[in-house]
Amino acid sequence: RAAAVKQFDESRSGVKGLVDAGINEIPPMFRHNPDPLPPAPTGSVSVPTIDLSLPRGVVVDLIRAASHEWGFFQVINHGIPVSVIDGTLSAIRSFNELPPSDRSPYYSRSFTGGVSYSSNVDLYRSSAASWRDTIQVMMGPARPDPERIPPVCRQEILSWDENVSQVGRSLLELMSEGLGVDPHLLKELTVGDGKVMVCHYYPPCPEPEATMGVVTHTDPGALTVLVQDDTGGLQVKHVGENGNCYWVDVEPVPGALVINVGDLLQIISNDEYKSVEHRALVRSRDKSRVSIAVFFNPAKRGDTDFYGPLPQLISDGKPAHYRNFTMSEFMGTFFSKQLSSKALVDHFK
Ligand code: SIN
Ligand code: FE2
Repeated sequence: RAAAVKQFDESRSGVKGLVDAGINEIPPMFRHNPDPLPPAPTGSVSVPTIDLSLPRGVVVDLIRAASHEWGFFQVINHGIPVSVIDGTLSAIRSFNELPPSDRSPYYSRSFTGGVSYSSNVDLYRSSAASWRDTIQVMMGPARPDPERIPPVCRQEILSWDENVSQVGRSLLELMSEGLGVDPHLLKELTVGDGKVMVCHYYPPCPEPEATMGVVTHTDPGALTVLVQDDTGGLQVKHVGENGNCYWVDVEPVPGALVINVGDLLQIISNDEYKSVEHRALVRSRDKSRVSIAVFFNPAKRGDTDFYGPLPQLISDGKPAHYRNFTMSEFMGTFFSKQLSSKALVDHFK
């Protein structure tokens, strides 16, 4: 039976369909070359977890330090109840575990209607396919017709957007304060058009170490707010105190959200905040993993509004590390080139 699965039928049943067919080897198109970077020695370092109920000044300092040194942090006491997190993750899991005939009507690679559902074969950055099925929903400037979102997770997706947007805005206020600029500035610059929610389902995998959930990349936008279940697999690149570079696990923390800085915020902050490479491994032979990312993208997308390092952060002693550019140029560069991770910010130096 396993040998009969010759072809990956993305539109009918996704990667989940391969698992359902009982394969015990992954198809060659899912095999990735091993990455030479080692994992961090166990217990040596960990991505900071920040308690948002601490005094504001303390939180501002912790977020600034984490954004500078890691580009990643987790937050707890962010105001979203654990029951809402669990309900949202399980709604995404439920959709992906429906029979293929209930899922395939939603299959679409096009994002024109504001919703896509596909296996996200990494056409731009990877020569191999990734072990995941993904629903993407456009959340800004407008939401899609709700009918396009599968009913089993529709309400959960829509209210997750509301919950996460509130957290994203508060974080951008805290991050503005960390730069010493007007608390509303980053929010006004970076929350607007093109807010996207990306819901990943990583099926169990017979050869988890041979494939990849998401290949190494940086997020292009301003800020990402991610929630993951308790499986684990997300890793960030980090340079330790000894100067060695490692993959560090973003350990699942119950009830926490994972926050990371994107390329655009690295540029706007003139490198105060770092957009750091990360990836998602597939960890389990018998358990699926769900994660949901919301990308906060810039407010203005046209040819007339310019983005670049904030003038408030530039002085004789601190020159701008990047030139100014429009979002048309930024997004055009992102989509047109086979950019490997850090190459996007480098393009604007
Ligand atoms: C991503 O960074 O694109 C996804 C990460 C995850 O699934 O944890
Ligand atoms: Fe990412």
